[in-house]
Amino acid sequence: MTPYIGDIDAWQESWDRQQEAYLPDREHRFAAMLDAVDAIRDTGPLRLLDLAGGTGTISLRALRRFPDAELTLVDLDPALLALATAALRDRATIVTADLGRPDWHHALPHRRYDAVLTATALHWLPADRLATLYGELCDLLRPGGLLVNADYMPDDALPELTKRLLARSRERREARYAAGAALSWSQWWEQAEQDETLRPLVRQRHGIYPTGHSPEWNPPVSWHLDALAKAGFAEAGTLWRGGPDAAVVGLR
Ligand SMILES: C[S@@+](CC[C@H](N)C(=O)[O-])C[C@H]1O[C@@H](n2cnc3c(N)ncnc32)[C@H](O)[C@@H]1O
Repeated sequence: MTPYIGDIDAWQESWDRQQEAYLPDREHRFAAMLDAVDAIRDTGPLRLLDLAGGTGTISLRALRRFPDAELTLVDLDPALLALATAALRDRATIVTADLGRPDWHHALPHRRYDAVLTATALHWLPADRLATLYGELCDLLRPGGLLVNADYMPDDALPELTKRLLARSRERREARYAAGAALSWSQWWEQAEQDETLRPLVRQRHGIYPTGHSPEWNPPVSWHLDALAKAGFAEAGTLWRGGPDAAVVGLR
């Protein structure tokens, strides 16, 4: 049963502000993803997989743009999944699965998708698992379908500028926190734990991600392009770049 979440819009908004403190151009990458989906649409039902979808940010935007799309959201975090379920209601199939496991896709409602979209998440997986996952995602896509992964993926050719960009964005983030414009990641989770409905789910989460999140691994964009090509995608390239972040795309 879906737990009752008081003001779901307020939770969605506070998650978005918290994420935007790290990624001021977060909406730009989502728009680029959805433009790519629009470009590969065919006449059948549009099946989209929001991978490690958290509170459902990508699904909500995809449904705004493609109201008839069939959305599947996969994640492992019970608290974020509860927020996604409350926001998306019956407009998406919500699946609890661990992307670290090769059987994660067994619970999906469809065997083929037009697009897999993911943001700020796959750096939680170790290198070998992510390389294998890219292959599993290629198999899930119809010919002509695409995977978009947006994350911190620096440009290999710009090591010094990347350092400076990161330092500036850290300063801007600290200024936002100081002005009370957004909560930090840990403050957001502390606030979620204050909520009576979310509290047991946040505590359950502590068991799933004992360190707050999985170990982070952030290779440059060239690693992703190489891994996508090796995973079997016919085309692999950069769809969008914003400073040290990028969205890579694999077209099956
Ligand atoms: C920073 S959040 C981003 C969520 C969402 N994509 C967004 O942009 O708002 C990272 C997400 O990855 C999910 N995640 C991390 N490791 C995972 C795993 N092994 N299996 C499933 N989900 C995972 C987390 O639970 C979390 O929801």
